[in-house]
Amino acid sequence: MYVITGITGKVGGAVARILLSRNLPVRGVMRDAGKAETWRALGCEVAIAEMDDDNALSEAFKGATGVFILPPSDFDPEPGFPVARRIIDALVQAIRTAEPEKVVCLSTIGAQAAQTNLLTQRTLLEQALNQLGLPVTFLRPGWFMENCAQDVAAAREQGVIQSYLQPLDKAVPMIATADVGKLAASLLMQDWAGKRIVELEGPYRVTPNDVASTFSKILGRQVVAEVVARHTWETVFRGQGHQHPSPRMRMIDGFNEGWICFEGPEDERAIGETELEEVLRGLLS
Ligand SMILES: NC(=O)c1ccc[n+]([C@@H]2O[C@H](COP(=O)([O-])OP(=O)(O)OC[C@H]3O[C@@H](n4cnc5c(N)ncnc54)[C@H](OP(=O)(O)O)[C@@H]3O)[C@@H](O)[C@H]2O)c1
Repeated sequence: MYVITGITGKVGGAVARILLSRNLPVRGVMRDAGKAETWRALGCEVAIAEMDDDNALSEAFKGATGVFILPPSDFDPEPGFPVARRIIDALVQAIRTAEPEKVVCLSTIGAQAAQTNLLTQRTLLEQALNQLGLPVTFLRPGWFMENCAQDVAAAREQGVIQSYLQPLDKAVPMIATADVGKLAASLLMQDWAGKRIVELEGPYRVTPNDVASTFSKILGRQVVAEVVARHTWETVFRGQGHQHPSPRMRMIDGFNEGWICFEGPEDERAIGETELEEVLRGLLS
């Protein structure tokens, strides 16, 4: 039995669909019972659990050959990351209780960074799962191409995208969520011992200017990228409702300054095949 958390989202859904297409048994973990029927209809068992509920997660992980852990995103974490720590504690407890044979955990590029930032939530998760002694793979993808969803309206309507990634000609390792799901599914089907880190990026690196020119090509109108000045970020994020903008700002600093980066050698990195244009066409359709 393969147990997939985050199954109602982009990556978890992709993982589950691949396993199901191979006639492998899948149990989808979701917090919203209203989404269960869709997955039952595809042939999944369903378990209902919030990611901070150790009892419900223990039940969900029982009898698992492999568990895929997708930690929820929190872009506005309180100092000290109390919510992420509660989720980590629940996951550790559930894995200790249910004893799955192996775990594939979605982490991130830059999980090794020493500087506190948004991705520290994944550093803490990796550290905790490392203590458990079971086979665990940390999948560390680059920046998701689907993050461009936030640029769609402005590209279409104003022909301008606002970029926090800067300078505009700096290439960033990006990846399509379909490729993240594909690799996660194949890792789950493997056997290994101890801890593994697998890093993943797309077929080529992408600059903010590339994002703009790809929107231009698809929309048939000029789209340009504009830098959002660093000194305005805090005001912008607070305006979007953030109460603790610093971790997010530091994460973007990390990409721009280069300390959020891959850790391992380039020739060991997994490479996805999906190109930015395909992802943007999907977002625009
Ligand atoms: N964006 C990036 O550039 C990037 C890069 C590297 C790694 N990542 C990682 O990728 C992950 C996001 O993946 P995604 O794009 O597939 O996300 P997504 O499409 O937003 O899906 C998130 C999933 O998590 C579920 N979920 C959220 N909070 C939950 C909770 N408290 N309890 C139970 N389930 C919960 C959601 O359920 P509902 O359907 O109920 O909402 C949904 O199934 C994060 O772990 C992030 O750190 C992102």
